[in-house]
Amino acid sequence: MEKRTYDFENIPCRFGTNSLKWDGLESRYGHSDLLSMWIADMDFCTPQFVIDALHNRLNHAVLGYSMPGNEWSTAIINWLENRHNWKIENDWLGFIPGIVRGIAFVIKTFTTAHDKVMVMSPVYHPFFHVAEDNGRQPEYCPLIIRDEQYYIDFNLFEERVKNCKVFILSNPHNPGGRVWTKEELQQMASICHKYNVIVISDEIHADLTLKPYKHHPFATVSKEAAECSITFMSPSKAFNTPGIISSYSIVSNDELREKFYNYMTASEYNQGNLFAYIVPATAYSELGTDWLEQVCSYISDNIDFVENFLTNELPLLDMIRPQASFLIFLDCRKLGLSQPELEKLFIEKAGLALNTGTMFGPEGEGFMRMNIATSRTTIKEALERIKKAIE
Ligand SMILES: Cc1ncc(COP(=O)(O)O)c(C=O)c1O
Repeated sequence: MEKRTYDFENIPCRFGTNSLKWDGLESRYGHSDLLSMWIADMDFCTPQFVIDALHNRLNHAVLGYSMPGNEWSTAIINWLENRHNWKIENDWLGFIPGIVRGIAFVIKTFTTAHDKVMVMSPVYHPFFHVAEDNGRQPEYCPLIIRDEQYYIDFNLFEERVKNCKVFILSNPHNPGGRVWTKEELQQMASICHKYNVIVISDEIHADLTLKPYKHHPFATVSKEAAECSITFMSPSKAFNTPGIISSYSIVSNDELREKFYNYMTASEYNQGNLFAYIVPATAYSELGTDWLEQVCSYISDNIDFVENFLTNELPLLDMIRPQASFLIFLDCRKLGLSQPELEKLFIEKAGLALNTGTMFGPEGEGFMRMNIATSRTTIKEALERIKKAIE
Protein backbone atom coordinates (compact mmCIF):
# COMPACT_ATOMS: atom_id res chain seq x y z
CA MET A 1 0.00 0.00 0.00
CA GLU A 2 0.95 3.62 -0.58
CA LYS A 3 2.08 5.60 2.44
CA ARG A 4 -0.78 6.42 4.84
CA THR A 5 -1.58 10.11 4.38
CA TYR A 6 -4.74 10.29 6.49
CA ASP A 7 -4.41 10.64 10.23
CA PHE A 8 -6.65 8.11 11.96
CA GLU A 9 -4.91 8.38 15.31
CA ASN A 10 -5.85 11.96 16.19
CA ILE A 11 -9.60 12.09 16.36
CA PRO A 12 -11.46 15.35 16.93
CA CYS A 13 -13.63 15.93 19.99
CA ARG A 14 -17.22 15.73 18.79
CA PHE A 15 -18.97 17.05 21.90
CA GLY A 16 -20.93 20.21 21.22
CA THR A 17 -21.73 19.30 17.60
CA ASN A 18 -25.11 17.67 18.34
CA SER A 19 -23.45 14.38 17.57
CA LEU A 20 -25.89 11.56 18.31
CA LYS A 21 -22.98 9.33 19.23
CA TRP A 22 -21.43 11.72 21.77
CA ASP A 23 -23.90 14.45 22.72
CA GLY A 24 -26.62 11.78 22.79
CA LEU A 25 -24.89 9.74 25.51
CA GLU A 26 -26.68 11.35 28.43
CA SER A 27 -30.18 10.82 27.09
CA ARG A 28 -29.44 7.35 25.82
CA TYR A 29 -27.18 5.82 28.46
CA GLY A 30 -27.79 8.12 31.43
CA HIS A 31 -24.13 9.20 31.53
CA SER A 32 -22.33 11.73 29.39
CA ASP A 33 -18.81 10.60 30.34
CA LEU A 34 -18.77 7.21 28.62
CA LEU A 35 -16.40 6.23 25.85
CA SER A 36 -18.81 6.14 22.92
CA MET A 37 -18.61 3.13 20.61
CA TRP A 38 -22.20 2.60 19.57
CA ILE A 39 -23.95 4.18 16.56
CA ALA A 40 -22.27 3.45 13.23
CA ASP A 41 -20.38 6.56 12.25
CA MET A 42 -16.63 7.04 12.36
CA ASP A 43 -14.72 9.23 14.77
CA PHE A 44 -12.18 9.85 11.98
CA CYS A 45 -12.31 13.19 10.19
CA THR A 46 -14.47 13.09 7.08
CA PRO A 47 -11.94 13.19 4.20
CA GLN A 48 -10.81 16.72 3.51
CA PHE A 49 -11.52 16.58 -0.22
CA VAL A 50 -15.21 16.01 0.55
CA ILE A 51 -15.27 18.86 3.07
CA ASP A 52 -13.51 21.09 0.53
CA ALA A 53 -16.16 20.38 -2.10
CA LEU A 54 -18.91 21.38 0.35
CA HIS A 55 -16.96 24.53 1.33
CA ASN A 56 -16.44 25.34 -2.28
CA ARG A 57 -20.17 25.31 -2.96
CA LEU A 58 -20.72 27.61 0.02
CA ASN A 59 -18.44 30.14 -1.63
CA HIS A 60 -21.29 30.88 -4.00
CA ALA A 61 -23.65 33.43 -2.49
CA VAL A 62 -26.93 31.72 -3.36
CA LEU A 63 -28.16 28.46 -1.86
CA GLY A 64 -31.10 28.03 -4.22
CA TYR A 65 -33.13 25.00 -5.33
CA SER A 66 -30.74 22.47 -6.78
CA MET A 67 -30.84 19.43 -9.00
CA PRO A 68 -28.55 16.41 -8.96
CA GLY A 69 -26.65 17.38 -12.09
CA ASN A 70 -24.74 15.04 -14.36
CA GLU A 71 -21.81 14.94 -11.94
CA TRP A 72 -23.99 13.04 -9.45
CA SER A 73 -25.24 10.29 -11.78
CA THR A 74 -21.99 9.99 -13.73
CA ALA A 75 -19.96 9.57 -10.54
CA ILE A 76 -22.30 6.85 -9.25
CA ILE A 77 -22.49 5.00 -12.58
CA ASN A 78 -18.71 4.99 -13.00
CA TRP A 79 -18.09 4.04 -9.38
CA LEU A 80 -20.41 1.03 -9.55
CA GLU A 81 -18.80 -0.16 -12.73
CA ASN A 82 -15.20 0.32 -11.61
CA ARG A 83 -15.49 -0.70 -7.98
CA HIS A 84 -18.26 -3.30 -8.04
CA ASN A 85 -18.30 -4.42 -11.65
CA TRP A 86 -21.93 -3.38 -12.05
CA LYS A 87 -23.00 -1.61 -15.23
CA ILE A 88 -26.18 0.32 -14.55
CA GLU A 89 -28.37 2.52 -16.73
CA ASN A 90 -28.95 6.15 -15.86
CA ASP A 91 -32.69 5.72 -15.43
CA TRP A 92 -32.32 2.88 -12.91
CA LEU A 93 -30.93 5.41 -10.48
CA GLY A 94 -32.94 7.51 -8.03
CA PHE A 95 -32.26 9.62 -4.96
CA ILE A 96 -33.59 8.39 -1.60
CA PRO A 97 -33.56 10.49 1.57
CA GLY A 98 -31.81 7.86 3.71
CA ILE A 99 -31.76 4.11 3.49
CA VAL A 100 -34.07 3.41 6.40
CA ARG A 101 -36.62 5.77 4.87
CA GLY A 102 -36.08 4.08 1.52
CA ILE A 103 -36.95 0.76 3.12
CA ALA A 104 -40.14 2.28 4.54
CA PHE A 105 -41.05 3.62 1.09
CA VAL A 106 -40.59 0.21 -0.53
CA ILE A 107 -42.75 -1.37 2.16
CA LYS A 108 -45.43 1.27 1.59
CA THR A 109 -45.28 0.85 -2.18
CA PHE A 110 -45.46 -2.91 -2.40
CA THR A 111 -47.22 -4.19 0.73
CA THR A 112 -50.42 -3.61 2.65
CA ALA A 113 -51.31 -3.89 6.34
CA HIS A 114 -50.23 -7.16 8.01
CA ASP A 115 -48.15 -8.34 5.05
CA LYS A 116 -45.00 -10.16 6.12
CA VAL A 117 -41.50 -8.75 5.73
CA MET A 118 -38.54 -11.05 6.35
CA VAL A 119 -35.21 -10.23 7.98
CA MET A 120 -32.26 -12.45 8.92
CA SER A 121 -31.69 -11.81 12.61
CA PRO A 122 -29.68 -10.62 14.41
CA VAL A 123 -29.84 -7.67 12.08
CA TYR A 124 -29.76 -3.87 11.92
CA HIS A 125 -32.82 -3.18 14.06
CA PRO A 126 -34.65 -0.55 11.93
CA PHE A 127 -35.27 -3.33 9.38
CA PHE A 128 -37.86 -4.95 11.62
CA HIS A 129 -38.92 -1.79 13.48
CA VAL A 130 -39.82 0.00 10.26
CA ALA A 131 -41.87 -2.99 9.11
CA GLU A 132 -43.63 -3.34 12.43
CA ASP A 133 -44.19 0.37 13.07
CA ASN A 134 -45.79 0.67 9.64
CA GLY A 135 -48.29 -2.08 10.46
CA ARG A 136 -46.53 -4.93 8.67
CA GLN A 137 -45.47 -8.18 10.28
CA PRO A 138 -41.77 -8.95 10.62
CA GLU A 139 -40.82 -12.56 9.91
CA TYR A 140 -37.48 -13.61 11.41
CA CYS A 141 -35.08 -16.08 9.87
CA PRO A 142 -32.33 -16.46 12.48
CA LEU A 143 -28.79 -16.85 11.19
CA ILE A 144 -26.65 -19.73 12.43
CA ILE A 145 -23.26 -19.23 14.07
CA ARG A 146 -20.59 -21.70 13.00
CA ASP A 147 -16.94 -21.18 13.99
CA GLU A 148 -17.72 -17.63 15.14
CA GLN A 149 -19.23 -16.68 11.79
CA TYR A 150 -22.80 -16.24 10.53
CA TYR A 151 -24.39 -18.59 7.99
CA ILE A 152 -27.86 -19.01 6.51
CA ASP A 153 -30.04 -22.05 7.08
CA PHE A 154 -31.52 -22.16 3.58
CA ASN A 155 -34.27 -24.64 4.47
CA LEU A 156 -35.51 -22.26 7.12
CA PHE A 157 -34.96 -19.33 4.76
CA GLU A 158 -37.28 -20.86 2.17
CA GLU A 159 -39.87 -21.87 4.73
CA ARG A 160 -40.00 -18.38 6.23
CA VAL A 161 -39.69 -16.23 3.11
CA LYS A 162 -42.29 -17.98 1.00
CA ASN A 163 -45.17 -16.20 2.73
CA CYS A 164 -43.47 -12.80 2.74
CA LYS A 165 -43.88 -9.91 0.32
CA VAL A 166 -40.48 -8.37 0.99
CA PHE A 167 -37.12 -9.59 2.27
CA ILE A 168 -34.67 -7.00 3.63
CA LEU A 169 -31.08 -8.09 3.19
CA SER A 170 -28.09 -6.40 4.81
CA ASN A 171 -25.40 -6.96 2.16
CA PRO A 172 -22.83 -6.97 3.79
CA HIS A 173 -24.40 -7.90 7.09
CA ASN A 174 -24.76 -5.67 10.13
CA PRO A 175 -24.02 -6.52 12.99
CA GLY A 176 -21.98 -9.58 11.91
CA GLY A 177 -19.98 -7.92 9.14
CA ARG A 178 -20.50 -10.94 6.95
CA VAL A 179 -19.81 -10.52 3.21
CA TRP A 180 -22.22 -12.92 1.53
CA THR A 181 -20.69 -15.08 -1.18
CA LYS A 182 -21.95 -15.03 -4.73
CA GLU A 183 -23.38 -18.52 -4.27
CA GLU A 184 -25.28 -17.55 -1.13
CA LEU A 185 -26.72 -14.49 -2.86
CA GLN A 186 -27.71 -16.59 -5.87
CA GLN A 187 -29.49 -19.04 -3.63
CA MET A 188 -31.39 -16.23 -1.85
CA ALA A 189 -32.32 -14.78 -5.25
CA SER A 190 -33.52 -18.05 -6.64
CA ILE A 191 -35.79 -18.71 -3.64
CA CYS A 192 -37.15 -15.14 -3.49
CA HIS A 193 -37.81 -15.10 -7.23
CA LYS A 194 -39.66 -18.41 -7.00
CA TYR A 195 -42.10 -16.98 -4.43
CA ASN A 196 -42.36 -13.46 -5.92
CA VAL A 197 -40.65 -11.85 -2.95
CA ILE A 198 -39.11 -8.41 -3.49
CA VAL A 199 -35.58 -8.19 -2.10
CA ILE A 200 -34.33 -4.89 -0.71
CA SER A 201 -30.56 -5.20 -0.80
CA ASP A 202 -29.14 -2.64 1.61
CA GLU A 203 -25.52 -2.20 0.50
CA ILE A 204 -24.61 0.79 2.64
CA HIS A 205 -21.47 -0.96 4.01
CA ALA A 206 -20.33 -2.33 0.63
CA ASP A 207 -17.50 0.11 -0.02
CA LEU A 208 -15.94 -0.93 3.29
CA THR A 209 -15.51 -4.56 2.27
CA LEU A 210 -12.18 -5.63 3.71
CA LYS A 211 -9.44 -7.64 2.04
CA PRO A 212 -9.54 -10.42 0.89
CA TYR A 213 -13.35 -10.37 0.64
CA LYS A 214 -15.29 -9.17 -2.36
CA HIS A 215 -18.63 -7.43 -2.37
CA HIS A 216 -21.21 -8.70 -4.86
CA PRO A 217 -24.08 -6.30 -5.53
CA PHE A 218 -27.14 -8.52 -5.12
CA ALA A 219 -28.62 -7.52 -8.48
CA THR A 220 -25.51 -8.73 -10.33
CA VAL A 221 -25.43 -12.33 -9.14
CA SER A 222 -28.14 -13.71 -11.45
CA LYS A 223 -30.94 -12.75 -13.78
CA GLU A 224 -33.41 -13.67 -11.06
CA ALA A 225 -31.66 -11.37 -8.59
CA ALA A 226 -31.84 -8.46 -11.01
CA GLU A 227 -35.54 -9.11 -11.57
CA CYS A 228 -36.66 -9.25 -7.96
CA SER A 229 -34.53 -6.61 -6.25
CA ILE A 230 -34.24 -2.99 -5.28
CA THR A 231 -30.75 -1.94 -4.19
CA PHE A 232 -29.89 0.88 -1.81
CA MET A 233 -26.42 2.39 -1.53
CA SER A 234 -24.81 5.47 -0.05
CA PRO A 235 -21.38 7.00 0.46
CA SER A 236 -22.34 7.76 4.07
CA LYS A 237 -20.63 4.89 5.92
CA ALA A 238 -17.51 4.67 3.80
CA PHE A 239 -16.83 8.41 3.66
CA ASN A 240 -18.23 9.28 7.08
CA THR A 241 -20.97 11.63 5.86
CA PRO A 242 -24.16 10.16 7.37
CA GLY A 243 -25.28 13.60 8.55
CA ILE A 244 -25.63 14.74 4.93
CA ILE A 245 -28.08 12.02 3.80
CA SER A 246 -27.09 11.22 0.27
CA SER A 247 -28.32 7.72 -0.48
CA TYR A 248 -29.68 6.36 -3.73
CA SER A 249 -31.59 3.43 -5.17
CA ILE A 250 -30.97 1.28 -8.22
CA VAL A 251 -33.81 -0.69 -9.77
CA SER A 252 -33.25 -2.57 -13.02
CA ASN A 253 -36.62 -4.32 -13.25
CA ASP A 254 -39.01 -2.09 -15.24
CA GLU A 255 -42.14 -2.99 -13.33
CA LEU A 256 -40.63 -2.56 -9.86
CA ARG A 257 -38.91 0.64 -10.93
CA GLU A 258 -42.01 2.24 -12.37
CA LYS A 259 -44.08 1.48 -9.32
CA PHE A 260 -41.43 2.50 -6.79
CA TYR A 261 -40.31 5.65 -8.56
CA ASN A 262 -43.92 6.76 -9.14
CA TYR A 263 -44.48 6.47 -5.40
CA MET A 264 -41.31 8.45 -4.67
CA THR A 265 -42.10 11.15 -7.23
CA ALA A 266 -45.72 11.59 -6.13
CA SER A 267 -44.65 12.99 -2.77
CA GLU A 268 -41.25 14.34 -3.88
CA TYR A 269 -39.47 11.90 -1.57
CA ASN A 270 -36.82 11.62 -4.25
CA GLN A 271 -35.65 15.24 -3.91
CA GLY A 272 -32.26 15.66 -2.27
CA ASN A 273 -30.75 18.82 -0.93
CA LEU A 274 -27.87 20.77 -2.39
CA PHE A 275 -25.20 19.00 -0.31
CA ALA A 276 -26.65 15.53 -0.76
CA TYR A 277 -25.68 15.50 -4.44
CA ILE A 278 -22.20 16.92 -3.89
CA VAL A 279 -21.06 14.10 -1.60
CA PRO A 280 -21.30 11.13 -4.00
CA ALA A 281 -20.13 13.29 -6.91
CA THR A 282 -16.97 14.09 -4.94
CA ALA A 283 -16.40 10.91 -2.93
CA TYR A 284 -16.68 8.56 -5.89
CA SER A 285 -13.36 9.51 -7.42
CA GLU A 286 -9.69 8.55 -7.43
CA LEU A 287 -9.27 10.42 -4.17
CA GLY A 288 -12.11 8.35 -2.79
CA THR A 289 -10.43 5.12 -3.85
CA ASP A 290 -7.26 6.18 -2.08
CA TRP A 291 -9.18 7.16 1.08
CA LEU A 292 -10.92 3.78 1.13
CA GLU A 293 -7.67 1.92 0.68
CA GLN A 294 -6.27 3.72 3.71
CA VAL A 295 -9.32 3.66 5.97
CA CYS A 296 -10.00 -0.03 5.26
CA SER A 297 -6.41 -0.87 6.03
CA TYR A 298 -6.60 0.99 9.36
CA ILE A 299 -9.92 -0.71 10.20
CA SER A 300 -8.44 -4.14 9.38
CA ASP A 301 -5.53 -3.38 11.70
CA ASN A 302 -8.01 -2.35 14.41
CA ILE A 303 -9.83 -5.66 13.97
CA ASP A 304 -6.53 -7.56 14.29
CA PHE A 305 -5.72 -5.53 17.38
CA VAL A 306 -9.06 -6.43 19.03
CA GLU A 307 -8.71 -10.07 18.04
CA ASN A 308 -5.19 -10.32 19.49
CA PHE A 309 -6.25 -8.57 22.67
CA LEU A 310 -9.15 -10.96 23.18
CA THR A 311 -6.94 -13.99 22.54
CA ASN A 312 -4.19 -12.86 24.88
CA GLU A 313 -5.91 -10.82 27.56
CA LEU A 314 -9.64 -11.48 27.46
CA PRO A 315 -10.18 -15.17 26.75
CA LEU A 316 -13.74 -14.97 28.12
CA LEU A 317 -14.74 -12.85 25.12
CA ASP A 318 -14.89 -13.96 21.49
CA MET A 319 -15.85 -12.02 18.41
CA ILE A 320 -17.54 -12.45 15.08
CA ARG A 321 -14.73 -11.22 12.84
CA PRO A 322 -16.17 -8.66 10.41
CA GLN A 323 -15.40 -9.19 6.74
CA ALA A 324 -16.66 -5.68 6.00
CA SER A 325 -17.04 -2.40 7.87
CA PHE A 326 -16.15 -1.29 11.37
CA LEU A 327 -18.56 -3.04 13.70
CA ILE A 328 -17.46 -5.94 15.88
CA PHE A 329 -20.08 -8.20 17.41
CA LEU A 330 -18.45 -9.22 20.69
CA ASP A 331 -19.51 -12.64 21.90
CA CYS A 332 -19.72 -12.35 25.70
CA ARG A 333 -21.73 -15.51 26.26
CA LYS A 334 -18.94 -17.22 28.22
CA LEU A 335 -19.39 -14.59 30.95
CA GLY A 336 -22.73 -16.21 31.73
CA LEU A 337 -24.47 -12.89 32.40
CA SER A 338 -28.01 -11.92 31.56
CA GLN A 339 -28.33 -9.09 29.01
CA PRO A 340 -29.15 -6.44 31.66
CA GLU A 341 -26.13 -7.61 33.69
CA LEU A 342 -23.94 -7.45 30.61
CA GLU A 343 -25.15 -3.93 29.79
CA LYS A 344 -24.49 -2.88 33.38
CA LEU A 345 -20.97 -4.28 33.20
CA PHE A 346 -20.18 -2.30 30.05
CA ILE A 347 -21.88 0.95 31.07
CA GLU A 348 -21.46 1.17 34.84
CA LYS A 349 -18.22 -0.73 35.36
CA ALA A 350 -16.30 -0.18 32.13
CA GLY A 351 -17.72 3.26 31.29
CA LEU A 352 -18.41 2.27 27.68
CA ALA A 353 -21.38 2.87 25.42
CA LEU A 354 -21.85 -0.05 23.00
CA ASN A 355 -25.02 -1.30 21.30
CA THR A 356 -26.56 -4.10 23.28
CA GLY A 357 -26.82 -7.32 21.26
CA THR A 358 -30.55 -7.89 21.78
CA MET A 359 -31.26 -4.61 20.01
CA PHE A 360 -30.67 -6.62 16.81
CA GLY A 361 -33.13 -9.36 17.79
CA PRO A 362 -33.23 -12.04 20.50
CA GLU A 363 -30.38 -13.89 18.77
CA GLY A 364 -28.11 -11.06 19.92
CA GLU A 365 -28.43 -12.23 23.54
CA GLY A 366 -24.97 -12.38 25.11
CA PHE A 367 -23.45 -10.04 22.50
CA MET A 368 -22.42 -6.37 22.46
CA ARG A 369 -21.67 -4.42 19.25
CA MET A 370 -18.54 -2.31 19.31
CA ASN A 371 -17.80 0.43 16.78
CA ILE A 372 -14.06 0.38 16.08
CA ALA A 373 -13.89 3.27 13.59
CA THR A 374 -11.80 5.19 16.06
CA SER A 375 -8.16 5.55 17.05
CA ARG A 376 -6.21 2.51 18.17
CA THR A 377 -5.51 4.37 21.42
CA THR A 378 -9.25 4.57 22.11
CA ILE A 379 -9.73 0.90 21.29
CA LYS A 380 -6.89 -0.09 23.59
CA GLU A 381 -8.40 2.01 26.37
CA ALA A 382 -11.82 0.41 25.83
CA LEU A 383 -10.46 -3.13 25.88
CA GLU A 384 -8.45 -2.45 29.01
CA ARG A 385 -11.55 -1.07 30.69
CA ILE A 386 -13.51 -4.21 29.77
CA LYS A 387 -10.71 -6.39 31.11
CA LYS A 388 -10.65 -4.46 34.40
CA ALA A 389 -14.44 -4.54 34.69
CA ILE A 390 -14.52 -8.31 34.23
CA GLU A 391 -11.70 -8.85 36.71
C1 LIG B 1 -27.25 -1.84 7.35
C2 LIG B 1 -27.58 -0.40 7.57
N1 LIG B 1 -28.52 0.17 6.80
C3 LIG B 1 -28.85 1.48 6.94
C4 LIG B 1 -28.24 2.28 7.89
C5 LIG B 1 -28.66 3.70 8.05
O1 LIG B 1 -28.79 4.29 6.83
P1 LIG B 1 -29.47 5.74 6.71
O2 LIG B 1 -28.80 6.61 7.72
O3 LIG B 1 -29.17 6.13 5.30
O4 LIG B 1 -30.93 5.57 6.95
C6 LIG B 1 -27.25 1.70 8.71
C7 LIG B 1 -26.59 2.52 9.74
O5 LIG B 1 -25.95 2.02 10.63
C8 LIG B 1 -26.91 0.35 8.53
O6 LIG B 1 -25.96 -0.23 9.26
